[in-house]
Amino acid sequence: MAQLWGGRFTKETDKLVYAFNASISFDQKFYRQDIEGSIAHVVMLEKQGILTQDEKDAIVKGLTGIRQDIENGVLEITEEYEDIHSFVEANLIERIGDAGKKLHTGRSRNDQVALDMRLYTRVEILSVDELLKELLKTLLQIMEEHVQTYMPGFTHLQKAQPITLAHHVGAYFEMFKRDRQRLEDIYKRMNYCPLGAGALAGTTYPLDRYYTASLLGFEGPTLNSMDSVSDRDYVIEFLSALSTIMMHLSRFCEEIILWNSNEYRFVEIDDTYATGSSIMPQKKNPDIAELIRGKTGRVYGALISILTTMKGIPLAYNKDMQEDKELTFDAIDTVKGCLALFNGMVQTMKFHQPVMETSAMLGFTNATDAADYLVGKGVPFRDAHGIIGRLVLYCIDKSCSIEDLTIEELKSISPDFEEDVYDAISLKTCVEKRLTVGAPGPDAMRKVIQIEKEYLAGIEKGMVEKHE
Ligand code: ARG
Repeated sequence: MAQLWGGRFTKETDKLVYAFNASISFDQKFYRQDIEGSIAHVVMLEKQGILTQDEKDAIVKGLTGIRQDIENGVLEITEEYEDIHSFVEANLIERIGDAGKKLHTGRSRNDQVALDMRLYTRVEILSVDELLKELLKTLLQIMEEHVQTYMPGFTHLQKAQPITLAHHVGAYFEMFKRDRQRLEDIYKRMNYCPLGAGALAGTTYPLDRYYTASLLGFEGPTLNSMDSVSDRDYVIEFLSALSTIMMHLSRFCEEIILWNSNEYRFVEIDDTYATGSSIMPQKKNPDIAELIRGKTGRVYGALISILTTMKGIPLAYNKDMQEDKELTFDAIDTVKGCLALFNGMVQTMKFHQPVMETSAMLGFTNATDAADYLVGKGVPFRDAHGIIGRLVLYCIDKSCSIEDLTIEELKSISPDFEEDVYDAISLKTCVEKRLTVGAPGPDAMRKVIQIEKEYLAGIEKGMVEKHE
């Protein structure tokens, strides 16, 4: 057991207490950020005349060496230390001697951990964003290829009106686009540096917090030291954004599972993204889509957990906050894995165009258009709705579609029907006439695709560029 704070104690910590209290098994995940923060801290201490140049140089060299050795596998992070901060500091002192003991001047583990978690979250926001961008590119490509792939649109999982595959996929494009915007908002809001807040009340050393913040690529320092060490809002916001991403992935997965079923056969998941059964030789199961749907619960769990942890904590730092890490790390890794796998699954998936089209023709998806046709002939919409309703009943009885009826049969239900009705209610007309912005008509869709192309091209310069 190696602790930073033994001076005041006369007895050894109970072993179980030590293990219960320690965080090194999981906070070692941000050793890079811990070292990055420490380097910025000592560079600032030297600028302010708190450390000599020699001391600063020795510390920076020592810390850089530790980082290299961890990366090369020469130095192993062991659990004999309480947390990653103690591990790094103890190693530094071992390497460079007394100068290492000055690293923690004007700093507390409270502002140190607040910084590390922020730095870690900030990087992860960017990598989740990168994966979302890749997914958006895939979706846009599918949209471009399928502006005229007709399929039924559903409400209540009942066929409603015809749409196109581009339009359906485009709905998810918008969702994932908003997910990126959420990440960007969070990034902007959280990009302030808590270092220098000390344990809770700042410090009497003349730190230059603006300088430390700029060294670490933050907009500036946080403005209240109590808030700095006890704020985890950004973790909550990030987990909320991650939960929303999972919710979107999960809905899409649910549809893919349905579409991939024998009953739908709209798509076929590639062999590389499907699994078999140990007993039923015929099976090809959509396990990846199901797992992504299933893992959504675990990301929601992380969000609810941290919300609950934070709700009763008085200011400022309390050890409860150590619970911000494990589930957050797990949620981030889960979402990144799901996004990458989902992207691969969709990229390799086959769309059965004729099956979708046939499905769109059945189930009276043109009933609204048939009513609109009568409106065009001067019938009030409410009456037209009633007429088409009766027509649908008649067709159900005869097991046919509206367009299968002869003009005489149609006229016997309403004299306003004429020969041009067949063209007016054909699948092609039904889709192609839907031309308001956001509707599935191919011309309307192409305009949206162009807007989204420009969005994807422009956004390349977004957060990442700012960070660099
Ligand atoms: N492991 C702690 C955490 O994750 C680091 C901060 C410890 N501070 C303290 N006063 N015990 O929150």
